[in-house]
Amino acid sequence: MSKHIILSLLLLLPSLTSASYPTSGPAITDRYWDCCKPSCGWKGKASFNSPVFSCDSNNTHLSDFDAGTGCNGGNAFLCADQSPWAVNDTFSYGFAGASFPGYVEDAWCGACYQLDFTSGEVKGKRMVIQVHNTGYDVHTANRFALAIPGGNTSYAAACALQYGVSNTVFGEADVGLITASQCDKLPKALQAPCHWRFNWFLDAQRPTANFTRVECPAVLTNRTGTIRDDDKTFVTQSSAQKSVYSPYLLAGFLALLSGIVLI
Ligand SMILES: *[C@@H]1O[C@H](CO)[C@@H](O)[C@H](O)[C@H]1NC(C)=O
Ligand SMILES: *[C@@H]1O[C@H](CO)[C@@H](O)[C@H](O)[C@H]1NC(C)=O
Ligand SMILES: *[C@@H]1O[C@H](CO)[C@@H](O)[C@H](O)[C@H]1NC(C)=O
Ligand SMILES: *[C@@H]1O[C@H](CO)[C@@H](O)[C@H](O)[C@H]1NC(C)=O
Ligand SMILES: *[C@@H]1O[C@H](CO)[C@@H](O)[C@H](O)[C@H]1NC(C)=O
Repeated sequence: MSKHIILSLLLLLPSLTSASYPTSGPAITDRYWDCCKPSCGWKGKASFNSPVFSCDSNNTHLSDFDAGTGCNGGNAFLCADQSPWAVNDTFSYGFAGASFPGYVEDAWCGACYQLDFTSGEVKGKRMVIQVHNTGYDVHTANRFALAIPGGNTSYAAACALQYGVSNTVFGEADVGLITASQCDKLPKALQAPCHWRFNWFLDAQRPTANFTRVECPAVLTNRTGTIRDDDKTFVTQSSAQKSVYSPYLLAGFLALLSGIVLI
């Protein structure tokens, strides 16, 4: 009889051990580039091989993941190459800060998502992004804040500190730069991804998107150094919902067969 109880309990295990996180749905997007150390750059934010890289003021990777953020007097900043680039007219790669209502950072730090834009000038275009940061300041919707140099003002003037320029070259509060030509005043490493916003992205204003989690492509993990432990094994939301019940049903059925009543 105890053998059956053990078998029944073993069948319950999968539902207790595999966390399920949102893997698809509608989302809002906006822009940010604050030069701060990205939140997924700290240890322990999710189950991954390594936090995302932060950089020093020369855009060289820091090996110390405990280094403090440039937004609070430290020397760790956002790396310039964690920024978007176009593959062709309808497909781009990039990085984003994310948040899903009701979840915390272990759900998204280091995960990759396909974003299919559903409104604005980019409707019909697609990006694949890796999440390197967290945007908790929006609570009401799934959110991807696209990391675009000059795309929004720099919090705590970290960009001025990182690049030794006036913070005003990064633009106005909540807007960033207004015209493509202003991109040419940014530090060299940020100019091409700034122009991406006016070329490929058509300066779309907060377009909505459908998101779908995907396995991270090497071209993105190469820039962050981060691969999640569940990158190949994550459970899609719809099948996760089904599997919550099936182990219990199976265990209950086996218990009935063996004359044991669980509960
Ligand atoms: C700039 O960032 C703020 C704060 O996260 C956000 O509310 C705003 O929508 C952003 N602006 C754009 C144009 O994305
Ligand atoms: C960045 O590079 C310059 C020129 O090589 C050097 O003087 C400076 O110390 C470097 N800064 C850091 C933080 O390594
Ligand atoms: C654009 O690039 C993506 C990714 O490589 C590819 O899937 C898609 O077919 C390309 N589209 C065009 C129009 O070339
Ligand atoms: C976005 O998702 C909605 C709802 O599932 C669907 O009707 C729509 O076709 C999707 N659009 C794109 C561009 O994927
Ligand atoms: C990224 O790719 C380049 C070229 O293949 C390689 O030299 C570099 O070590 C890679 N970086 C990481 C963090 O994997």
